[in-house]
Amino acid sequence: MMRTITSRLRRNKAIRDLVSETSLMPDKFVFPIFVKEHGEVEASRWGGMEKIPLSGLLEKISNYVESGIRSFLIFGIPSSKDPLGTAAYSKDGVTQRAIRMIKESFSAINILTDVCLCQYTDHGHCGIVEGGKINRSKTLSILSRIAVSHAEAGADIVAPSAMMDGQVLAIREALDEAGFYDLGIMSYSTKYRSYLYSPFRDVASSAPTFGDRSSYQMDFRNRREAVIEAVQDIKEGADIVMVKPAMPYLDIISDLRRILRCPLAAYQVSGEYVMIREYCKSTGTPEREVLMETLMAIKRAGADIIISYFSPEAIGILREGCR
Ligand code: PBG
Ligand code: ZN
Repeated sequence: MMRTITSRLRRNKAIRDLVSETSLMPDKFVFPIFVKEHGEVEASRWGGMEKIPLSGLLEKISNYVESGIRSFLIFGIPSSKDPLGTAAYSKDGVTQRAIRMIKESFSAINILTDVCLCQYTDHGHCGIVEGGKINRSKTLSILSRIAVSHAEAGADIVAPSAMMDGQVLAIREALDEAGFYDLGIMSYSTKYRSYLYSPFRDVASSAPTFGDRSSYQMDFRNRREAVIEAVQDIKEGADIVMVKPAMPYLDIISDLRRILRCPLAAYQVSGEYVMIREYCKSTGTPEREVLMETLMAIKRAGADIIISYFSPEAIGILREGCR
């Protein structure tokens, strides 16, 4: 006799909702935005992933806040680059100005900032390059200066993404020394070298001019190493850790969720965004359905926080209350 007939619990939507195991909440989404110094708002060629000039920033933020976004991840796009990425830690750099503007006008929202060098260096690497190699100690001291400059401008959480060994510890010590002992760090602890970052690099003009990032970003063949990376960053002082990309790395999210106790973020990256957009466009599949399926999968795997270019759409759907 068959006693377990799972379809009993699928008979209608109310029953399915009652027994559903996973749900998404608007407050758990982080929306990445790109801020440039001058010019007009410029959407990427796939739509979305806009570059917003400082002059139009407050209007944009206010629309997004209105639509329910609570947390923003800011990427600055400077108008000049140099070998040391000096624009990244200047008091009047594009990111620092953006943070100050937003913080003066809005309360009750989170400003997270990406701490890296690749948009700011003329060679496009995430660190200082000398003789064709990353100079780690110089890189760590510049990353620390960037983080402190973001903190001084009013950032709520800094998010180091350079994948340099020791970066979280260096930043934690610099923040403590500057009096920001209570500022959180969300580390891009488990960031794989991926070909899913191309749209981002196109939008942020941050592609390396030589070589690739495989000497510092993780090798996608490795699963156990993900645990080493995340645990190391927590020991160094990270408050939140991250898996990036998200969808092809659900095994990693699941592993980390089981082992760690701190909040875990997953970044649905630009390539995932474009894949979903283009798939929906070319097959006529409703984007909102694919969106919910993919976001739910990331959540189901164990992510607490989701960083996605689809955040406004996702929150819109959730607000309609139909999920
Ligand atoms: C920079 C950085 C990258 C992304 C976020 N921060 C790209 C890279 O490593 O080149 C990628 C995000 C995306 O693809 O959406 N360190
Ligand atoms: Zn970088």
